[in-house]
Amino acid sequence: MSNSKIHNLFPTPLWIVDFEEEVFTPMNQEIEVGLESLIEHRPTVPPGSTLQTDTDLYEFEEFAEITALIGTSVKGALDFLEIEEPFEITGCWANINPIGSVNTPHTHPNNYLSGVYYARTDEGSDRIFFSDPRPQASIISPPVKEDNIYTGNEVSVEAKIGRLIMFPAWLTHGVPANQSGKDRISISFNIMFPSFGGQISKPKWSPSLKFRPHSNNNKSKLL
Ligand SMILES: [Fe+2]
Repeated sequence: MSNSKIHNLFPTPLWIVDFEEEVFTPMNQEIEVGLESLIEHRPTVPPGSTLQTDTDLYEFEEFAEITALIGTSVKGALDFLEIEEPFEITGCWANINPIGSVNTPHTHPNNYLSGVYYARTDEGSDRIFFSDPRPQASIISPPVKEDNIYTGNEVSVEAKIGRLIMFPAWLTHGVPANQSGKDRISISFNIMFPSFGGQISKPKWSPSLKFRPHSNNNKSKLL
């Protein structure tokens, strides 16, 4: 007899928050009105690219509600991670993806969390994909009976209206070409700790311990 267990070491969290329809319907209208006033003379978007606003949407009244919901969602994520550090939205902007428009794979440097809220998607413009951050893991890629999280190297997530998705800012993600007949509208954001430069980035070891082994890691006690 043997006792076999599987532990998932260093998992990558992906938070999915679906707001109630009575919350997101009026909020999405506000967002669209706000975007109309911000982008008075909309430029032509070249094929394969996306139109992005400035990154200070949290300053505008029309985006107050989504800004508040981003804040509560981030708080929930940090609570889950048992992080009590104050955070701030370092950037919040809209992406407008016309037909054929894509967001090529990218990360959001110099932030801790990133996320996106979907104000308008449709069939054919309702996916976001995430790539395995461990490129060495797919060097050997045998056939599998069924796709699963242990052997796959890309995950596609439904981007439906009223949904907010959050993830570590280092996680590579992208958006496939809009194959619907309408614009796709999303609100992206970045989250960082204001105390990072002054406090968090300092070494975690005590300078009073002269011969302590050099380590700046956070250790968990899973095993
Ligand atoms: Fe992004």
